[in-house]
Amino acid sequence: MTQTVLVTGAAAGLGNVIARHLLGQGFQVVLSDVDAGRARQAAEQLDNGEGRVLATGLDIRQPEDFTRVLAETVARFGRLEVLVNNAALTLATPVMDIDPQEFDRVITTNLRGTFVGCQTVGRYFAQQGYGRIINLASLAGQNGGTASGAHYAASKGGSSP
Ligand SMILES: NC(=O)c1ccc[n+]([C@@H]2O[C@H](COP(=O)([O-])OP(=O)(O)OC[C@H]3O[C@@H](n4cnc5c(N)ncnc54)[C@H](O)[C@@H]3O)[C@@H](O)[C@H]2O)c1
Repeated sequence: MTQTVLVTGAAAGLGNVIARHLLGQGFQVVLSDVDAGRARQAAEQLDNGEGRVLATGLDIRQPEDFTRVLAETVARFGRLEVLVNNAALTLATPVMDIDPQEFDRVITTNLRGTFVGCQTVGRYFAQQGYGRIINLASLAGQNGGTASGAHYAASKGGSSP
């Protein structure tokens, strides 16, 4: 049976590569990003004419965005089986230069966003009786961020298994 995967932050970077790879593996792909226009552009580049790509805007900080995208996914593909929590803000600001607003922005996106995705889609998976969630980790979460920001490292430490 063809499975459906939702990839967050998939307009660019690793998320886009993951979406492309899973499409190639036969998945139906919901390609989402905080920037809906870029998500649509990326989906147009990926679409092979088989109708297996759905582009949508999704801000991972917002539970209602996950709820809406779940509804769009079920309407289009029938169900969702896999969530890839990929979207993140990767900042490398030196620790003494991180202002509290920037700290909040990174933690709210990377840590809260992953929690919100796990909880909102996890409830749907529990009801369905099946589902897989993949969270993108980082070595920064283990080593404290030798090459990245302390806020990024803390968020990855908190959102990795
Ligand atoms: N690139 C690396 O070397 C590397 C290494 C280790 C881990 N990772 C992890 O892989 C993942 C992807 O990293 P990347 O380098 O491809 O990032 P990237 O910055 O290239 O892409 C991130 C994407 O997420 C989107 N995004 C940002 N905020 C969002 C939000 N609130 N809601 C939805 N989408 C949002 C951006 O628009 C962008 O398309 C991240 O979780 C990162 O921590 C990357």
